[in-house]
Amino acid sequence: MCGIVGYFGKRPARDFLLEGLKRLEYRGYDSAGMAVLQNHKSKLAVTKSVGKVVNLENKLKQNFNGFLGIAHTRWATHGKPSEKNAHPHTDCGGNVAVVHNGIIENYRELKEMLKKRGHKFRSETDTEVIAHLLEEEMSVSGGKNISFEEAFVKTLKQLNGTYGVVAISSKNPDMMLAARLSSPLVLGIGLGEIFVASDVSAMVGDVKRVVYLDDKEIAIIKKDGYVVKTLSNRKQEKEEHTLEWDKAAAERGGYPHFMLKEIFEQPKSFADALRGRLLIKEGRARLGGLQAVEKRLRNINRIIIVSCGTSYHSGLVGEYMLEEYAGIPTEVEMASEFRYRKPLLDKKTAVLAISQSGETADTLAAIREAKEKGALTLGIVNVVGSTIARETDAGVYCHAGPEIAVASTKAFTSQLAILALLALYLGRQRELSFVMGERIARELNRIPEYMEKILARAKDIKKLAKKYAKQKHYMYLGRKYNFPNALEGALKIKEIAYVPAQGYPTGEMKHGPIALIDQSVMSVIIALKDSVYEKNLSGIEEILARGGKVLAVATEGDSVIAKKATDIIFIPKTLEMLSSLLAIIPLQLFAYFVAVERGCDIDKPKNLAKSVTVE
Ligand code: AGP
Repeated sequence: MCGIVGYFGKRPARDFLLEGLKRLEYRGYDSAGMAVLQNHKSKLAVTKSVGKVVNLENKLKQNFNGFLGIAHTRWATHGKPSEKNAHPHTDCGGNVAVVHNGIIENYRELKEMLKKRGHKFRSETDTEVIAHLLEEEMSVSGGKNISFEEAFVKTLKQLNGTYGVVAISSKNPDMMLAARLSSPLVLGIGLGEIFVASDVSAMVGDVKRVVYLDDKEIAIIKKDGYVVKTLSNRKQEKEEHTLEWDKAAAERGGYPHFMLKEIFEQPKSFADALRGRLLIKEGRARLGGLQAVEKRLRNINRIIIVSCGTSYHSGLVGEYMLEEYAGIPTEVEMASEFRYRKPLLDKKTAVLAISQSGETADTLAAIREAKEKGALTLGIVNVVGSTIARETDAGVYCHAGPEIAVASTKAFTSQLAILALLALYLGRQRELSFVMGERIARELNRIPEYMEKILARAKDIKKLAKKYAKQKHYMYLGRKYNFPNALEGALKIKEIAYVPAQGYPTGEMKHGPIALIDQSVMSVIIALKDSVYEKNLSGIEEILARGGKVLAVATEGDSVIAKKATDIIFIPKTLEMLSSLLAIIPLQLFAYFVAVERGCDIDKPKNLAKSVTVE
């Protein structure tokens, strides 16, 4: 998805804009551009480039200065990656510049109408129509001059589709306008300066106070303040959120890639997810974000989890936890499917969205559908104040800190932490005993130290990755709590090492997939000392009998599997309910090191974006 940054304040805009673009580059990119209102010239300077942001930086001329500017990294939706299709887009007169994230569905009709009125288009994008519409509105509306703000609102009202859009005009040097419809935009409120971005990570370290725009809101941004209004010109009082993250948290901290840093952050991020929420002596969890719906939660008799990608996989683990320990029938739906079903919901159904970014379009749409049908909507989200966090009735933040790498790692284990807390919370509202509750609480507290032990073996996993770096096909297998890890492990090696990999329940092999097994296939199987150990053991033997290779993730001290498997990675023993939290770490590291061996772009894998804010 595209990245948007804007700045208006006391410092040269280009510095923040470049820094912000670099922080957003992980969201996916193919080109970038910047527009700044030149000091004392009331003229817009626009520069664009294809490829990485550093190419734009190299093109910027020294005199590219000014205190008001916008910039953009593009992830092409309409028109191929090229300089002319890069944002910002300007009007015919070069007086208006806009950057946009989203899709304008009626851009063809608008473009035809504008062309008939003499506008000349330079790009193939949908976005460019916004710049020309603005120019049109400011020039002809009833013959009288209307303000930049009024022209902006009139323009927005003609757009069908989605937008996060920011506009500046050389004829209005005292303001920057922003608007949101389904594509997120956040304002950063500094001293004598205002930032705007599509993702809060662009401004981490620059501001502490942030304001999230809601759909159909516009922001009129001046050097020293802002006003938020609805499209019907009604002023909106907005809550200012405190941005806990600092710059260091958003930087790589000496690691070669954000992904490796975030894998190694998991003991800390896991502990942060639990902080203040575990009442060990009472064997229960305290989840402040659910306080307002505590009574309603006592009466729910069904949970539907809606999420995508890695968050879908954590939801699958949550399904086992919630059914086994909270005793509530639970199902997990891919959000992109849920929204097109005819889900039978009622007020005793809780629909739980799991989302790291809190902006995934499919998950947001699923939550909106659930609300329409009267279900209680809950969120497990990482980004504070994000749309899903604000639109659900209640929820629990992961507190994992910024997850910059496209491949989700610490967010996954933090989501599992919250799901375990939720199972404890709901279970203790129901049949879960104090003894079992305390046992779960105590073991949760030990997870960070178990994680450290596994991370200390990273070198051994790196060796295995080197050994299998050229492996062309993987089968990931697991049962019960570790079946979702089979899917997640396969997703990791697919998305960052581009290696074909499938995840299956081990028990499913004999129903077809085992036909694939031969010496060319590596089966990665999670076979821990748990309630399904024997079943996994026979799965390993079935594979070996057909000449397949087996890389097993096993429980420390398991000599039986050590003798059978081609290679083995040991992890500490813990409650079966919490075993996914540990078993996923070797699979994250394995995928990472294979990708490094294969020379892949780890933090910005091809074709992928960090937050999928379009359908
Ligand atoms: C996982 O590594 C991917 N980045 C992707 O599958 C991601 O989990 C999915 O797009 C959901 O994102 P969300 O958690 O921000 O909603």
